[in-house]
Amino acid sequence: MAVRYNADAKTFILDTEDSSYVMKVSRYGNLLHMYYGEKLPDQELDYLLTLADRGFSPNPYEAGSDRTFSLDFVPQEFSTCRSGDYRSPSIELTWGRGGMAFSGKVAGYEVVSGAEKIQGMPGLRDLPGENTQTLKILLEDPVSGLEIELAYAVFEEKNVIARSVRAINRGDHGVRLEKLMSATLDFRDSDYDLLYFSGRHLMERGLRRIGVSDGVHSIGSSRGASSHQYNPFMIVCEKDCGEDRGQCWGISLVYSGNFRMEAEKDQFSQLRVNAGINPDGFSFWVEPGESFQAPQTVLAWSGEGFGNLSRIYHRVFRENLCRSPYRNRIRPVLLNSWEAAYFDFDDEKLLSIAREAVDLGVDLFVMDDGWFGKRDDDNSGLGDWKENRGKLKMGVRRLSEEIHRMGMKFGVWVEPEMVSEDSDLYRLHPDWCLREPGRPAVRGRNQLVLDLSRRDVCDYLVEAMNSVLDMAQIEYVKWDMNRSLTETWSGCLDREHQGEVAHRYILGLYYVMDQVILKHPEVLFCGCCGGGGRYDAAMLYYQPQIWCSDNTDAVNRLKIQYGTSFAYPVSSMEAHVSVCPNHQTGRVTPLATRGIVAMGGMFGFELDPTRMSPEEKAECRDQIQFYKKHYRLITEGDYYRLTNPYENLYFTAWQQVSRDKKKSLVSLVVTEKEGNDAQRFVKLKGLEAEQFYQIEGWKGKFSGRVLMSAGIPVPAELNQYGGIQLILKMV
Ligand code: DGJ
Repeated sequence: MAVRYNADAKTFILDTEDSSYVMKVSRYGNLLHMYYGEKLPDQELDYLLTLADRGFSPNPYEAGSDRTFSLDFVPQEFSTCRSGDYRSPSIELTWGRGGMAFSGKVAGYEVVSGAEKIQGMPGLRDLPGENTQTLKILLEDPVSGLEIELAYAVFEEKNVIARSVRAINRGDHGVRLEKLMSATLDFRDSDYDLLYFSGRHLMERGLRRIGVSDGVHSIGSSRGASSHQYNPFMIVCEKDCGEDRGQCWGISLVYSGNFRMEAEKDQFSQLRVNAGINPDGFSFWVEPGESFQAPQTVLAWSGEGFGNLSRIYHRVFRENLCRSPYRNRIRPVLLNSWEAAYFDFDDEKLLSIAREAVDLGVDLFVMDDGWFGKRDDDNSGLGDWKENRGKLKMGVRRLSEEIHRMGMKFGVWVEPEMVSEDSDLYRLHPDWCLREPGRPAVRGRNQLVLDLSRRDVCDYLVEAMNSVLDMAQIEYVKWDMNRSLTETWSGCLDREHQGEVAHRYILGLYYVMDQVILKHPEVLFCGCCGGGGRYDAAMLYYQPQIWCSDNTDAVNRLKIQYGTSFAYPVSSMEAHVSVCPNHQTGRVTPLATRGIVAMGGMFGFELDPTRMSPEEKAECRDQIQFYKKHYRLITEGDYYRLTNPYENLYFTAWQQVSRDKKKSLVSLVVTEKEGNDAQRFVKLKGLEAEQFYQIEGWKGKFSGRVLMSAGIPVPAELNQYGGIQLILKMV
């Protein structure tokens, strides 16, 4: 049983294969968090609650003369607000005549089988045959009339718990939510480190590790998208936790908009972690009888370090989150036109690129930005989703036919959420974009953002995107988004509801994607937001792969893909071979290395093969063949990070191992070479210790234990930026 309730101890126990999560109803009805970690036998945990009469820690009214119980220090599952807990709360609200307190008490619970769909938002689904149960606990605050429904979907075999929160107004007056966290995780101590992933456009998801210290440390986004700057994923870990040992807890927020994750060390050195929609600038009215659904979080625990934690997330995201039929289908190797031509193309040029691409073994040709409206640069045309006949004389339909005749599939780029002021759409509907009345709109990439909080705008977009997809045979869509949101004011909402716009925008986006995918379920969608600006779990629900970064430099990509891999699977990371000198950094790296790094994700090309030498083309052909031959291992194998590029400056290595451990691929790139260099070694992981393996191209056989304990030498002949791929087979 994944979910149990011990009525005597008033304890809820959630068990996955390796972990337990325990909550308890306090003697005054509060829901306390007792434990999350290694799987426990049945055991009373009450002894862990150390209650005491502490100065300046108020006691709830119902505690009467009991001065030892205070919300100021007990670990809670969903905190109260302005009721004696001074830590950063799970909820903030205003109701009735201005009351701002909330104190939810357990009023009931139920256990249902399976995982329920989250209203209007993505979430994990249970698969047939999986033992998934959902526990729902109701917290009541009769004074404000607000109820909180906490849902815990326990994916037993997957070792994750998907938490979500719904606020229901049972009162007779409106409640204005100002903060509603999707998960609060209270720890009894705070001797931990935090890992989070931050960066900027072209350098996303760099690993950061800091110690928990006094006060609140928060990361988040207020850019309208989950952002290049901070990813909605955080790890709390023990101080000595590393890649392969130690305890760590992951929190992934399944949301693509403004978010906040905060870690607070309190006066008693306890840690509280909150994750949810960013409360800055957020408010949402919940009228009597209505409810507000907060996004889901996916929690996981690992007792074997970050590597195991990542593999838990990789599996559950790949299998239970992605719902595209492509989640377990072989996906095409693509060539994208962006770095090949930018805006400078016509149909003849695209066809000549495509002809060379097919000759390399590419399966899918993607026409990037510039094919529609008046779009010769990035100053105009967004919103006008009609082919540009000036550029594409034969039109998109015939172009697609020609590409198919060559034996490839065809894909297009779109950026539906945006509008250029120089566009027919803007001239027709200037009121459809987000801007404040009387204030000129802030521009980003010289474009404005459509108001997706409006249903009419969303419906227009559904129609526009569906007609793009019906315009020709189109098997792939790159769905881009190239600026941050600024003024989130909507002409359709009154003053009191403007705090809802940023969230309604995301709900609108999910609605549009849902509708378009429903009509075109066979299309492979790729997410993009200037590369990796919206690389979050929610997007994977719609788009099984995401353009990882606009930075295609192989060496920078080592760090970007390394950071990304902590939460997201290889099958989600689109990665392409581009030309050198690299367009973003000017760096020159060998073509072989660019191929190896791009095979750290969903492999493709971002270049013009008509400009390549016969030798280069032959090399690309070999890369494609290698990738296709080992496709399942690369994209579905268990993923092991062998080095940390922030610590090991000399080389970066990673490894995929098939589930049955019979086959493995080791990839390695030299990042720094010194004269008369030291001999370095890399220890492999994930192999069967007692079995023997052959390494393709090497003499002899090696026991799994030797390869993992003693390692293999980094080939001395590899120069700076040189790389190697090794295939291992169990013999
Ligand atoms: C940003 C994307 O990340 C690029 O790959 C490219 O599609 C451009 N937008 C096109 O404008």
